[in-house]
Amino acid sequence: MNRILKKTQLSDDVYRMEVEAPLIARERKPGQFIILQIDDQLGERIPLTIADADPAQGSITLIFQAVGRTTHLLADKQEGDTIAALLGPLGQPTHIEKVGHAVCVGGGIGVAPLHPIAQALKAAGNRVTIIIGARNRSLIILEEEMRRIADELIIVTDDGSYGRKALVTEPLKELCEQTPKPDLAVAIGPPIMMKFCAETTRPYGVHTVVSLNTIMIDGTGMCGGCRVTVGGKTKFVCVDGPEFDGHLVDFDNMMKRLRAYKPREDADHQAHHCRLDEAAALLTPHS
Ligand code: FAD
Ligand code: FES
Ligand code: MG
Repeated sequence: MNRILKKTQLSDDVYRMEVEAPLIARERKPGQFIILQIDDQLGERIPLTIADADPAQGSITLIFQAVGRTTHLLADKQEGDTIAALLGPLGQPTHIEKVGHAVCVGGGIGVAPLHPIAQALKAAGNRVTIIIGARNRSLIILEEEMRRIADELIIVTDDGSYGRKALVTEPLKELCEQTPKPDLAVAIGPPIMMKFCAETTRPYGVHTVVSLNTIMIDGTGMCGGCRVTVGGKTKFVCVDGPEFDGHLVDFDNMMKRLRAYKPREDADHQAHHCRLDEAAALLTPHS
């Protein structure tokens, strides 16, 4: 059992949790993730990136957006509650080296997995430009944490409610047009964003790393749920990734596979909400 030591809300539906996990805290490296199971009855396992770790306290930090059934159940947990199972650290750590100028692009909740990578790239002696993008101001997370790391921080929103009104690909393109161009780009966010970041850097030959968020079940390379095509070869995101060369990823196939379970996920989410409504009705005193 892994106890929740601290819980904070970062925006409308984004939460930060410090969870007791001493062995994972000691072993984890940037880019790695865990798979958690909320409790023994509710079987779904979901992957979440290890956003940070405190080996002295024996805890890891998870930052997650409540999007569906399992993440809402996790968001309902309070400090002192426990999570039945945490498996990790999983996946290959990010390859960190001094390349010169690294541009880190985070979209929405993708800023959470990007944070430890940007931190490590900075610690390795790189100049780090960070681009954070979101649909609107209320969805921007970790701004101060990223500002502390970045040599330059660029914020964009789709509706212009904060920072520049643009998509992340706009400043990314401008940076690629500069001389010298960046030596590395790291893009993490929704698949469509990562696809277009890779298309933006491709003509400039800027090596672009993406972190793929496929469906995962066992996290050990056995079930095939997370399979993607990279450079014409089949890869398993849980053991070969989650990071890959963005110029080689077949994003269209990945997005098609992600949509396969959508009707079932939406039905699950709906059922969860209906049960919450029923519970709320029972608790409401009748006049
Ligand atoms: P659902 O309504 O069931 O699904 C919503 C969407 O989440 C789906 O359409 C699908 O795209 C994705 N999803 C659903 N089930 C799974 C599953 N078993 N495995 C993977 N994706 C799934 N999210 C964060 O908020 N913070 C993170 O740090 C983070 N890190 C991730 C790291 C990796 C390596 C991967 C693969 C995903 C990560 N995600 C992260 C995404 C997170 O796993 C999903 O949001 C979560 O599984 C949604 O589950 P749900 O039941 O709440 O929503
Ligand atoms: Fe099963 Fe990767 S999650 S093979
Ligand atoms: Mg689910």
